[in-house]
Amino acid sequence: MSTQGNIDSVLTEKRVFECSGAFRSTAHIQSMADYERLYQEAETDPEKFWGGIAAELHWFKPWDKVCEWNCPWAKWFSGGEINLSYNCLDRHVATWRRNKAALIWEGETGEVQTLTYQQLLLEVSKFANVLKSLGVNKGDRVAIYMGMCPALPIAMLACARIGALHTVIFGGFSAHALVDRITDSQACLVITQDGSFRRGAEVKLKPAVDEAVPSCPSVKNVIVFQRTGTPQTMFGGRDHWWHELMAHASDECPAEPLDSEHPLYLLYTSGTTGKPKGILHTTGGYSVGTYITAKWVFDLKDEDVFWCTADLGWVTGHSYVLYGPLQNGATSLMYEGAPNFPEPDRFWRVIERHKVNVFYTAPTAIRAFMRFGAEWPLKHAMKSLRLLGTVGEPINPEAWMWYRENIGRNRCPIVDTWWQTETGMIMIAPLPGATPLKPGSATRALPGVIADVVTREGEPVPPGGGGYLVVKQPWPAMLRTIYGDPQRYVEQYWSQIPGMYFTGDGARKDEDGYFWIMGRIDDVITVSGHRLSTMEVESALVAHPKVAEAAVVARLDDFRGQAIAAFVTLKSGNAPSEELKNELRAWVAKEIGSLAKPDDVRFSDELPKTRSGKITRRLLKEIAAGGEVKGDTTTLEDLSVIARLSAQEE
Ligand code: WTA
Repeated sequence: MSTQGNIDSVLTEKRVFECSGAFRSTAHIQSMADYERLYQEAETDPEKFWGGIAAELHWFKPWDKVCEWNCPWAKWFSGGEINLSYNCLDRHVATWRRNKAALIWEGETGEVQTLTYQQLLLEVSKFANVLKSLGVNKGDRVAIYMGMCPALPIAMLACARIGALHTVIFGGFSAHALVDRITDSQACLVITQDGSFRRGAEVKLKPAVDEAVPSCPSVKNVIVFQRTGTPQTMFGGRDHWWHELMAHASDECPAEPLDSEHPLYLLYTSGTTGKPKGILHTTGGYSVGTYITAKWVFDLKDEDVFWCTADLGWVTGHSYVLYGPLQNGATSLMYEGAPNFPEPDRFWRVIERHKVNVFYTAPTAIRAFMRFGAEWPLKHAMKSLRLLGTVGEPINPEAWMWYRENIGRNRCPIVDTWWQTETGMIMIAPLPGATPLKPGSATRALPGVIADVVTREGEPVPPGGGGYLVVKQPWPAMLRTIYGDPQRYVEQYWSQIPGMYFTGDGARKDEDGYFWIMGRIDDVITVSGHRLSTMEVESALVAHPKVAEAAVVARLDDFRGQAIAAFVTLKSGNAPSEELKNELRAWVAKEIGSLAKPDDVRFSDELPKTRSGKITRRLLKEIAAGGEVKGDTTTLEDLSVIARLSAQEE
């Protein structure tokens, strides 16, 4: 075990997978030598590097300066004028891509809708005119509370077209969460739909808006898209049907040339404490960052069908369902519903039906598929797949191997992509035609991203040691501020380790310069003076043949500072027992040392998760501490899980 850094690291993974010659030969970036060269170029002359990439997009007016950096305030491509909707649509409509599929949508109920670039441009232009007709101006905020249907990206692109800021609020959030976000953003208009389908039932959306809007005086109009057909109460003067407004709208709406630093969108992210933060992204830099990372990391080709399973309510949906792929002229697939409806092989059916080539999902989904069993994916040949990706959490090596074998059939590289709502774009990830892969590592920082692992004092931690993951230079898609709270932006991100962007994640770098992300710093346990990453203990647990998923948290312990509490779900066919508890404790002791041996093991059918699939360790901590759950539970996937866990006696 290494103890050089501030966080001890116990995970050692030795497997390495080289890219196949076949994949490499057609990849955008084909060797580590090419990667190193790009990385060097970007490090030596970032202005030239980013300027060269930006020049691949359409600018109404060229920029004067690539980056003005007055830490922590950045301006990218200042003086330039650009429009992201133009780069996603008009630029392709002027070429042979005009009649290429931009979006393919599959509803949970099975229907499919395809929008070509031309069709999408017409819809977006019409809806942009609708927004204007309701008095939405450049700079205004528009809240979007919808399910995964084509109207959602149309609404986002229409906002971008006229320079209004969208703030997409995930359709699983409550009316209460809507009030907070609408109030903070002072949105003047809300776009919603009657409902959306999930697991065969209707997720009602408009009723939550009806509950929220009376407490939001900034909202003047509500537009309602019809998806399920469930009758709605329409409030006169405030509510309008999408289809009625669209029927009369002109399909001509030139994209507004916007200053490169014009705000593009707000996306709220819940911090571990306090009120949600409105992360602000601006136009030019975000466009450039998402464009190039989508191209390089997913090796996007014109023939590809690209499927990122994230909801558009999260940053992953913003950057890699919509803006990154469309700027590349790619075909992006959207699916409305649950991964296991009507059966656990729905995702694999979608892949077969649309011949998906590149598939990007979350470790939490992969672990769920592991639990359903490999027989479900193995029913489907999925020969179209050529590349897989993950995002959102550390992926434990066992899940990585399962993904590689059962989904990628040992043929597809896996890109484990580390990034954040705040970074806007992928920061650390393999380039699939170049980077040798190590299961569980997001590998190297992308060219143009100067990331490092440092101590609390900002000193680099030698290879092998754990520390704080930071970014030392600005990058184009970085957040510009927290909306309405610049002080919090400075404190939270730029003051913890002065002069560096503080990610809040722990990580270690190995001797090859590969990053191993250990999760949020607040997910670190101190046992007998050693700081252990909960993720590493989880990884050891999940490597046990009977364990499907594990979450590990700290519990106060009189003797050792903190003790380790593990929450475990079992693979089907295994029953909880005292023997198994002891077996798991002994297993972890053997895998990573007795220091990391869980003091408590609790079994559960499910683990509590946020809507984006991250395990809510905060709540588990409260349970482990023996108290009742007091934390905010509005973002939980399944509240009954908490009740069951809380009720369970040790
Ligand atoms: C975690 C999602 C390990 C990390 C794009 C980060 C990851 C937080 C990875 C951001 C990864 C994301 N490996 N951890 N590949 N990707 N994370 O804002 O803790 O929803 O800080 O953005 O997710 O989550 P967010």
